[in-house]
Amino acid sequence: MAANKEFFNRRLHSLLGVIPVGIFLIQHLVVNHFATRGPEAFNNASHFMESLPFRYALETFIIFLPILFHAIYGLYIAFTAKNNVSNYGYFRNWMFLLQRVSGVVTLIFIAWHVWETRIQVFFGAEVNYEMMANIVDNPAMLAFYIVGILSTVFHFANGLWTFGVSWGLTVTPRSQRISTYVTLGIFVALAFVGVRAILAFA
Ligand code: HEM
Repeated sequence: MAANKEFFNRRLHSLLGVIPVGIFLIQHLVVNHFATRGPEAFNNASHFMESLPFRYALETFIIFLPILFHAIYGLYIAFTAKNNVSNYGYFRNWMFLLQRVSGVVTLIFIAWHVWETRIQVFFGAEVNYEMMANIVDNPAMLAFYIVGILSTVFHFANGLWTFGVSWGLTVTPRSQRISTYVTLGIFVALAFVGVRAILAFA
């Protein structure tokens, strides 16, 4: 019974990392990338997202609660679970460790980022181009954001590799090798979009 529950939680954790959290990450980076076309383009894109119907329900059920579950259970996995990685080579053992480290770095980054943007709305602030420009005006903050974005994007891309294994999509060594290249491509593409977007505010 306990093993069943653990299995279910693992599967839910894995699924939520891709749907909806991973999808949200891509959407968020694409909207941010409008900043490369200037403040007005970014503000329009961001206000469009804010004007979606059922905004608060969408934010709660598609973003906040799934991230919260994935993050809390992710901390539990990262610090307590014993996993069998002996079937994999040296490279995959490093990726296994980096997946856990990047999860923790990503959590710190997301918590700070949400605090200084979304939560400030409750204190009367407006999330717009100027807000982000003020934040990354500080070079230390810009560096923190770049590290945070790279960590999140790495965690997601490498997570897609492990997701393929967890769900039995990539079982053979050959399919796992191909998956390494595909997810590396996803990492490079999302890192480019994310870093380019934050630099557009600087
Ligand atoms: C934007 C935020 C995040 C996204 C898109 C994301 C995505 C993913 C994906 C796709 C996986 C792979 C699931 C699998 O192996 O089947 C994963 C695994 C993992 N995530 Fe996240 N994640 C995010 C945030 C976090 C946070 C904040 C933590 C907190 C520590 C975390 C901890 C973990 C851990 C420990 C694993 C490995 C699970 C395992 O090996 O079974 N993640 N994540």
